[in-house]
Amino acid sequence: MPNALQKPQSAATAFMLAGAGWFVVGALYGMVSAIHLVAPEFFSNIPWLVFGRERPIHVNTMLYGFTGTMLIGCGLYYVPALLKTRLWSEPLAWVCFVLWNLTILSGPVCFSFGYTQGREYSEYVWAADLMLMVAVVLAIYNMVMTVAQRNESQLYVSVWYFFGAMLWTACNYPIGNVMWHPKTGAMPGLIDSIFLWFWGHNLPGLLITPLATGAAYYVIPRVARMPLNSHTLSLLGFWFLVALYTHIGGHHVLQSPIPNWLKTVSVVDSVSMVFPVSIVVINLWMTARGVGRRVWGDPAGRLVMGGIVWYLVTCIQGPLQSLPYLQRVTHFNNWTIGHAHIAMLGFGGYIALGAMWHILPLVTGRSVYSNKLVNLQFGLITFGLTGFFLDLTAVGLIQGSAWNNGETVYRVLPELAPFMITRAGLGIFILTGALVGFYNAVMTVLGGRRLAAEELQRAEEPV
Ligand code: HEM
Ligand code: HEM
Repeated sequence: MPNALQKPQSAATAFMLAGAGWFVVGALYGMVSAIHLVAPEFFSNIPWLVFGRERPIHVNTMLYGFTGTMLIGCGLYYVPALLKTRLWSEPLAWVCFVLWNLTILSGPVCFSFGYTQGREYSEYVWAADLMLMVAVVLAIYNMVMTVAQRNESQLYVSVWYFFGAMLWTACNYPIGNVMWHPKTGAMPGLIDSIFLWFWGHNLPGLLITPLATGAAYYVIPRVARMPLNSHTLSLLGFWFLVALYTHIGGHHVLQSPIPNWLKTVSVVDSVSMVFPVSIVVINLWMTARGVGRRVWGDPAGRLVMGGIVWYLVTCIQGPLQSLPYLQRVTHFNNWTIGHAHIAMLGFGGYIALGAMWHILPLVTGRSVYSNKLVNLQFGLITFGLTGFFLDLTAVGLIQGSAWNNGETVYRVLPELAPFMITRAGLGIFILTGALVGFYNAVMTVLGGRRLAAEELQRAEEPV
């Protein structure tokens, strides 16, 4: 077996770099989507680039490719580190890396030629579903064996979150993707929307959220150089998440004739989400109390704390837009697109990036190539995303209230144009942020300053 595949933490590094690369690819497709919504004829209807084909490439590449891949890379480092041991099998993690990334690659390759299961967040074809499942099961096996050989008896909350994310995905993905129907990956009729949104919400809720929360719980105490405010609270938040998040997918289809009891359950539990969210936010905030300057002054810490602020905003918005009365205005329009971006980039993406910048030096033994570039990336995506949020929320309210007042869609369209142009313009900042980050990550691995043994030890020290 080649030595490179045995090298400790090499798979974690590969996952993080791949995540940084997928961010660039996803942002390019995001720009294409945004340009389509400004000028539908801009790409002269090139078949593999029509909106219906490239939009799912953007979405899947961002969720599974950027945030998912980067956060898994971080977990492959912090789980063994917290357990004071090594990853059980580095080659197994590489197999997982190849299968996971082939699944993501299948997006641009298959969707461009119309091979898709056509259900949002469940578009991957069956063979790709299978690769993803094998990757997740291998990751679980590797982690179980790592826990079995641990030298630390306490299972810190980040370990729980990483395990949870993998276990829930192993269970939820095949159900939501209706994998027992390989040809369509769908159920007949309305029942399909229930299955689809079961996964559609569990992808952000039980894959990205626990991965990001676990990474934040790892990074913040280390950057703050303070012990976690409360371990009990952190575990309480974990179990609240399990109890509430699993079955709230119905809030995506409140405007459809799904059973009323399912709507009620999803609305009540969506509103109750304020508990686990507050626990995470308060616990991390309290950990950084008195040393805020240290946390916000650290380029990686700033990104993770920024992610927690976006989490708070997302989760104030989320329960509100789960209320059927309010959703009559916010559903089926750009308001939801705004929510999706602050959730996936603001919360998931910021924490993934912050954790990567914190962890990359620990796995490579090299300092970040340029902290100025990390700060530049933070500035670019913060400007772009804040603009996205304001722009899309405003245009969503215009659309929602116009339709509620009986206005026909085509008469509202001209009013949307300036907002769509603004969004495309802001996208350039996020794309530039992705490019700067990819360059900085590659340069860190190739040419960052080698850290002295004491520096590394200090950075790895438990707090
Ligand atoms: C260059 C920056 C970006 C641009 C220009 C962009 C643009 C877009 C556009 C035009 C859409 C389709 C909206 C519609 O159908 O009306 C979209 C959807 C989406 N984007 Fe982005 N995006 C960018 C970055 C990101 C990032 C970084 C993420 C996540 C990490 C992301 C996640 C999503 C998601 C989840 C959706 C689907 C939203 C939904 O259906 O509710 N995007 N994006
Ligand atoms: C308190 C927690 C949250 C609640 C109650 C909530 C609620 C909702 C609701 C009701 C919708 C559907 C809106 C509509 O279609 O009218 C939605 C959409 C969405 N949410 Fe959340 N949300 C929460 C947190 C999050 C988080 C943390 C993430 C990401 C990690 C996230 C990602 C998304 C995405 C990507 C969509 C767009 C789905 C689509 O394509 O339509 N949400 N959320």
